[in-house]
Amino acid sequence: MIPRPFAEVASVGVAVPPGVLTNADLTRMLDTSDEWIVERTGIRERHIARPEQTVAMLSHEASLRALASAGAVPADLDAIVLATASPDRLLPSTACDLQALLGAENAAAFDIGAACPGFVYALTVAEGLIASGQSDTVLVVGAEKLSTITDFQDRSTAILFGDGAGASVVRRSTRPGRGILSTFIKSDGRLAPLLYRPGGGSVDPISEKVVCERSHYMKMAGREVFKAAVLAMADACDEALRRAGVSADEIDLLVPHQANLRIIEATAKHAGVPMSKVMVNVDRYGNTSSASIPLALEQAVSEGRVDSGTVILVVAFGAGFTWGSAVIRW
Ligand code: COA
Repeated sequence: MIPRPFAEVASVGVAVPPGVLTNADLTRMLDTSDEWIVERTGIRERHIARPEQTVAMLSHEASLRALASAGAVPADLDAIVLATASPDRLLPSTACDLQALLGAENAAAFDIGAACPGFVYALTVAEGLIASGQSDTVLVVGAEKLSTITDFQDRSTAILFGDGAGASVVRRSTRPGRGILSTFIKSDGRLAPLLYRPGGGSVDPISEKVVCERSHYMKMAGREVFKAAVLAMADACDEALRRAGVSADEIDLLVPHQANLRIIEATAKHAGVPMSKVMVNVDRYGNTSSASIPLALEQAVSEGRVDSGTVILVVAFGAGFTWGSAVIRW
């Protein structure tokens, strides 16, 4: 086998809808408080898309930024791999809508359903497409409009989620030693009912009953999910480091999934990475599922925390359960 890296993350671009929903706004809708939300989650506000703003539109905006920053054009793309838990329609894929918006005439396009680690799953698929010789340039996108599947009458979930999109151009590695050094993805579907949307799919198609029961919205057993997230994120950090042959000391930046500040702190502690090397922006965006890693990565790049050669550990966990991680030398 040809040694890694096969592929590099050439850029990251994001799109965030302008509408902001603060904790104070939520206290006017639900029996909750800013203190409770900040103490339990670290979240202060989240962005919410306008009704007409689609996941494909947010993806398009993020993708144009990622393409420009990588010096690439849509015609360069061999594939578009879009991770989302809130697709615009169930058929066809949101990736196909994005392909059309971009005019990416040479690209295959498909969605990945892996919930919060969707971006890490998509990155893994992109690397595989490049390693196998199928593709040279792949657009990886994580994009969500979770506000459409969040029950704003349920205080245990409504406080957590937000909308946004992020994209990266992933291409054949051209700089020796730079690129994706390892990836790791895993799942445990036995735990699906701890975080899921019971209705609205083909098991229980959308109907008056589904709408009245509000079963098309996300349901979550928060405490159980919290415990599983801490364990899985720790496992994923260990695996990505082991596979990359990199020690915790060599990590310059940890970019964890932004679900909850307490989960992030536990993950950093387990990985042996000090909080000064951890990217945190859950306070501004809440949990944006598959968009969360690129939103945090882009902020790190904008703040000058990522340079050529920076070693980054990304790690995420979500519904399924699914989890995954990667080590990237930028
Ligand atoms: N405001 C005020 N009180 C709330 C509340 C809210 N928004 N949501 C729940 N509560 C109440 C509960 O009703 C419960 O009250 P009770 O003790 O009278 O029954 C109490 O707070 C504790 O609830 P609990 O669910 O045990 O709280 P918690 O400390 O586990 O925090 C979460 C709840 C959701 C913040 C936490 O479990 C969590 O972050 N879980 C992981 C979620 C996640 O990251 N999911 C996505 C994974 S990708």
